[in-house]
Amino acid sequence: MLTIQDAMTNRHSVRSYENKELPQNLKEQLLERINQCNSESGLHIQLVSNEPKAFDGMMAHYGKFSGVTNYIALIGKKGPDLEEKCGYYGEDLVLFLQQLGLNTCWVAMSFSRIKSAYVIEPGEKLCLVISLGYGLTTGVPHQSKPMEALSDVNSRTPDWFISGMKAAMLAPTAINQQKFKISLTDKVVSAKAGRAFYSKVDLGIVKYHFEIGAGKDNFKWK
Ligand SMILES: Cc1cc2nc3c(=O)[nH]c(=O)nc-3n(C[C@H](O)[C@H](O)[C@H](O)COP(=O)(O)O)c2cc1C
Repeated sequence: MLTIQDAMTNRHSVRSYENKELPQNLKEQLLERINQCNSESGLHIQLVSNEPKAFDGMMAHYGKFSGVTNYIALIGKKGPDLEEKCGYYGEDLVLFLQQLGLNTCWVAMSFSRIKSAYVIEPGEKLCLVISLGYGLTTGVPHQSKPMEALSDVNSRTPDWFISGMKAAMLAPTAINQQKFKISLTDKVVSAKAGRAFYSKVDLGIVKYHFEIGAGKDNFKWK
């Protein structure tokens, strides 16, 4: 199995998949990981499999999706922290899938909501989904803004923070917007989302990457 570091480096959005069922043992591993995420976060994340309709419409084709029959529905209680949590725990699943040899894409817009495919309890909402499967390609690395534009690094910045930033720069963001800023005061790191489309989901994803790169023991979040 790939290391989590390699999973971050190798992950790129993939929107076209082979017409191949997910093996049962892989599905079980994924369901177990989803359960862990849900019990830690209180989210109601669900795996949807063998469901071709969500990615069958105009929007999906316009967005260049093909062969999507499996996806993860990021669902949780409405509230101010829902989006960031979906980002954080969704990226845990994305990198886990990459480690298992699958490809993924975060999807906020280019899919149809199929109500019968998942359960949304009263007070909950579906934030967005993650498509998954065996990719026809492995995708391509995204262009990143320079580290100086995304953080306040200088000549005295410790190595662990630089490693955190390198990992954060590999994180997927909506339309590759990278509207985040990460800064350091003593051992306290603050990560802020700019005002943009789905930037709070992006922030959760970016924080997940930063923690892996920097090492959770080296700092605290503000
Ligand atoms: C919150 C979020 C929403 C996204 N929504 C869509 C979408 O609706 N359609 C799509 O094709 N890609 C979507 N993406 C994928 C991004 O375009 C992609 O992650 C970004 O261009 C960076 O490329 P990479 O993932 O290959 O590194 C989304 C990504 C994120 C993080």
